[in-house]
Amino acid sequence: MKLILLGPPGAGKGTQAQRLINRHDIPQLSTGDMLRAAVAAGTEVGKTAKAIMDAGDLVPDDVVNAIVADRLDEADCANGFILDGYPRTLKQADALESLLKTRGQHLDHVIEMRVEDDVLVKRVSGRFSCAKCGTVYHDEDRLPKAEGVCDTCGSAEFKRRPDDNAETMRSRLRAYYKETSPLVGYYHCKGTLRSIDGMAPINEVSEHIEAILKG
Ligand code: AP5
Ligand code: ZN
Repeated sequence: MKLILLGPPGAGKGTQAQRLINRHDIPQLSTGDMLRAAVAAGTEVGKTAKAIMDAGDLVPDDVVNAIVADRLDEADCANGFILDGYPRTLKQADALESLLKTRGQHLDHVIEMRVEDDVLVKRVSGRFSCAKCGTVYHDEDRLPKAEGVCDTCGSAEFKRRPDDNAETMRSRLRAYYKETSPLVGYYHCKGTLRSIDGMAPINEVSEHIEAILKG
């Protein structure tokens, strides 16, 4: 199964991708995570990306397309994948289509998660994640079950993203509406788009996604 989770920052793409990994045994390809790993490793890509990400702007298409092309060549992507945060521009969507074509593959589903802006800002400002396994939490409504210990892996180390603040979030939302939201029309025209209510509780959103995947 080859799937795109499309939606603004904080829509819940990463949260739902984590659940899909477990249920369908396919990897999550998050370009945000890949870029953050490059920043942490101090690679050339990371050096290019850091200031852009901190400002909430989009990293150049050719940089991101190259990362995704390399990742799709890895063995664990052979049976499918969940794209989280990619494509994010019409040029990236065209690049993805060419990439998949050369591999004789096609997308099965593009799921748009709709959430109101004020809710997105609240979600992102309260977000933190496990430094070891990446499980996502929230200060107000999704704390670890045992205080200070990750539910998934038991680690006591958590982290927050430098771009999760109100000012950078405004730029991220601007970038979404200007560059990424045209993809809704793009995939609608291709007949692969399904839109869901991303404001519903996490379990309900998961159920809705599973219903779409079952057809
Ligand atoms: P990226 O890492 O992709 O971030 P994003 O798209 O801004 O999305 P987020 O990770 O913030 O949100 P999410 O939808 O995954 O929500 P989550 O599940 O965490 O990109 C970061 C930067 O990298 C970009 O700004 C750009 O610079 C660069 N970049 C990345 N990809 C790029 C590309 N393709 N091209 C160019 N540049 C690129 O949930 C958020 C919070 O809400 C959590 O606390 C969660 O617990 C909570 N939550 C989730 N669902 C629900 C729910 N249903 N109800 C209540 N709370 C919920
Ligand atoms: Zn963990």
